[in-house]
Amino acid sequence: MPFEDVVNQLVVLGVGGFGREVAWLAGAAVPDAEVVFAITDPRYSPPDWRGPDIVLLEDVMAGASFVVAMGDPTDRRVGTAACISLGLLPVTLIHPRIDLEGHNEIGTGSVLCAGVIITTDIKIGEYVHLNLGTTIGHDAVLGDFVTTAPGVHVSGNVRIEDGAYIGTGAVIINGSGNEPLVVGAGAVVAAGSCVTQPVEPGALVAGVPAVRKR
Ligand SMILES: CC(C)(COP(=O)(O)OP(=O)(O)OC[C@H]1O[C@@H](n2cnc3c(N)ncnc32)[C@H](O)[C@@H]1OP(=O)(O)O)[C@@H](O)C(=O)NCCC(=O)NCCS
Repeated sequence: MPFEDVVNQLVVLGVGGFGREVAWLAGAAVPDAEVVFAITDPRYSPPDWRGPDIVLLEDVMAGASFVVAMGDPTDRRVGTAACISLGLLPVTLIHPRIDLEGHNEIGTGSVLCAGVIITTDIKIGEYVHLNLGTTIGHDAVLGDFVTTAPGVHVSGNVRIEDGAYIGTGAVIINGSGNEPLVVGAGAVVAAGSCVTQPVEPGALVAGVPAVRKR
């Protein structure tokens, strides 16, 4: 859902470094929004926090919009379920300094950071995070709750399944139209790796070329 269609309060669930970056992103993408930082448990309140007050998620008004600012796909899934159960509405946050003019689909609840380039005929699922400077090539398909860390390059004809995590600076080479290169659900690609072969669901791969570590 575009931010303009919901009430003017944006709840950012998560108060780590990425939470502060998402608030910065929101300042550029939806400058009129009132940004509220939320946590699900008082234990998560950072001792050295210098930002605005942090509220408990259960105290946020129903009908506000939300994004979950957690890079870990599993944490993000849990946080998303909590927000939805409280009647909050997911929004998609897209930094204005981004290029996605081709025929592309972006799922709701996704966060696209500054410098992302998405070329054409690409499908991005729901609650996906594309961190700074990620590039996605033609015909790529990303499932729900996928995370790309900063500087990831996904080539054309690649499929990244639900909940996979791609570390900083990793490269995934292209598949073909008939046979996309698949990174399986819940897989982890270590920072700086070059993926040249399919990655099995739940596997951790690392290195250049990337090999299975567990
Ligand atoms: C992949 C990752 C999650 C593994 O962390 P971990 O679960 O603690 O695993 P370990 O450190 O025990 O590493 C497991 C193996 O992978 C190797 N490995 C881990 N990261 C690697 C990397 N970036 N490049 C090459 N090899 C790597 C380790 O050397 C180890 O190999 P071994 O079993 O042959 O000794 C972590 O190293 C990583 O790359 N995280 C991404 C960080 C990131 O991008 N952050 C962005 C924040 S915005």
